[in-house]
Amino acid sequence: MADKKAQLKIDGFDETLELPIYEGTIGPDVIDVRSLAGLGKFTYDPGFVSTASCESKITYIDGGKGVLLHRGYPIEQLAEHSDFLETSYLLLHGELPTPEEKEKFVDTITHHTMVHEQLAHFFNGFRRDAHPMAIMCGVVGALSAFYHDQLDINDDKHREIAAHRLIAKMPTLAAMVYKYNQGQPFMYPRNDLSYSENFLHMMFNTPAEEKKISPTLARAMDRIFLLHADHEQNASTSTVRMAGSTGANPYACIASGIAALWGPAHGGANEAVLKMLDEIGDETRIDEFLAKAKDKNDPFRLMGFGHRVYKNYDPRATVMKKTCDEVLAELGLEDDPMLKMAMKLEKIALEDEYFQKRGLYPNVDFYSGIILKAIGIPTELFTVIFATGRTPGWIAHWNEMIGNEYRIARPRQLYTGHTQRDYPKK
Ligand code: SDX
Repeated sequence: MADKKAQLKIDGFDETLELPIYEGTIGPDVIDVRSLAGLGKFTYDPGFVSTASCESKITYIDGGKGVLLHRGYPIEQLAEHSDFLETSYLLLHGELPTPEEKEKFVDTITHHTMVHEQLAHFFNGFRRDAHPMAIMCGVVGALSAFYHDQLDINDDKHREIAAHRLIAKMPTLAAMVYKYNQGQPFMYPRNDLSYSENFLHMMFNTPAEEKKISPTLARAMDRIFLLHADHEQNASTSTVRMAGSTGANPYACIASGIAALWGPAHGGANEAVLKMLDEIGDETRIDEFLAKAKDKNDPFRLMGFGHRVYKNYDPRATVMKKTCDEVLAELGLEDDPMLKMAMKLEKIALEDEYFQKRGLYPNVDFYSGIILKAIGIPTELFTVIFATGRTPGWIAHWNEMIGNEYRIARPRQLYTGHTQRDYPKK
């Protein structure tokens, strides 16, 4: 940590405050404001636009340049040369695995893909048409009920087995949610399939018929999981860290991340993009919807556009678009009307002064939904796919916090309510 200082002059205080400034390896410096509490002052930053909540070594984003690094490796290179489980290992351990480490990790994950048979009964409590994210919040949180003897968060081994179980079981649970919605029997995982092949197998095969999984679709699915694996201190990851700071068990923390991800401003955007494209209907109505997106009195936002950090292209969107082209070509859907409309919408928006001035570019959610729809995944399951991909990132951040010094997260406030008053006498 450097010895640069920020000088702060506060009306009513004779002394000029000196606040330490810390430099990261890359990215913005941070000003340590912890001493303000001792003066009875708080910083004020709704939405945490200017607040670093923690120190982390996992992921770095340069929003201006559209850079995303996982433990220093650019997302474009990981998407090209790595796979989801290898990237998960990287996020968890900080280095790419050796071939032996990778083989052991993949084997461990493979042998944790089944869920306790009792867990299947939890589904019966939901309506068949329950939103998949409602079911995921419930069943992932319920996992802790099956591992009560391995929930000591201060035990490295307990934290490691919880990480393996969560990464391994999320695709199984996601596929079970889909099968429950469809009224079809659950499919058991198969240990002879890769992570993403296994997911597509559990999703689209039935006991009556087991089709071979397309390697192109399995590769596309794996890349979608990889592109969602982590993203620094986003809303759901910050939720996982906040829940973890109370000492809650990892299953409860991941369930809290799933709940936060559900919102349309965050992970729910991929589902919202498809609904928006459906609502626009055809290219002649694009201008009408762009006008709505720019109208301050209209709550409509252009889903899949804009980002708190990226004020340039989200590098994941670029890779996602390339994957989109590959999948649609494989499926003979190059002329998919929804893709054509999305590309037209993107072109018009990027040429529009309102979007340019605000640095509003397509984000990871803009194209992912089109690929998922082409693979045959229903719109309502899109955010469950996002949650499955983000699980290693959530766990890596939870582990980084628990494995180091941490305090319970407890923000303060600017109070503008009533001063003390007495209860009216009867
Ligand atoms: C994800 O944080 C992460 O890393 C998230 C994520 C991850 O991997 O974890 O990257 C995943 O959540 C991607 C974002 C998915 N959400 C959407 O696509 C929903 C649409 N986008 C917006 O809701 C919005 O852009 C946010 C929520 C993503 C960002 O909101 P901010 O940073 O609070 O930005 P803002 O609302 O303050 O917007 C700044 C300006 C405003 O206009 P002015 O008040 O300056 O005139 O840009 C406008 C906004 O009105 N604006 C949009 C817009 N997004 C921002 N206007 C129209 N359409 C949009 N999509």
